[in-house]
Amino acid sequence: MNHSISLTVNGARRDFVLDDPRVTLLDLLRERLHLTGTKKGCDRGQCGACTILVDGKRINSCLALAISHDGADILTIEGLARGDRLHPVQAAFIAHDGFQCGFCTPGQIMSAIGMMQEAQAGNDPERIRECMSGNLCRCGAYAGIVDAVLEAQA
Ligand code: FES
Ligand code: FES
Repeated sequence: MNHSISLTVNGARRDFVLDDPRVTLLDLLRERLHLTGTKKGCDRGQCGACTILVDGKRINSCLALAISHDGADILTIEGLARGDRLHPVQAAFIAHDGFQCGFCTPGQIMSAIGMMQEAQAGNDPERIRECMSGNLCRCGAYAGIVDAVLEAQA
């Protein structure tokens, strides 16, 4: 049985017919919309590479069933920049070398933005590390990531 859902993705309404109720938001974004900035790392909620904002809250999109999010407002890494103008968190990641291979970076940036909106960490580096502990970086770029977040929310 097919299911119809609508999402707002990066400001644009998108309609989908799902022939499989088990499709995740991650697969919908990557395979149906070709928004491949959101990465598939572990596909089981352990790495944070797939972090997006849903209704302003950060989630692991690999664990989220699309069918459960009918009507949701989704923001992905592709929706941040305005033309040539990067989002302040994107610019801060560049300024502070907050990445090496870059695979984790979209998830790190989306998680940082979500965390800043939650206003949980303030300017405490330890709290920032704790609040972003769900986002792993195999390259170990954590020092630059924390510095970037500190600058972006200054
Ligand atoms: Fe979703 Fe790793 S791909 S948490
Ligand atoms: Fe390579 Fe984080 S920059 S995994």
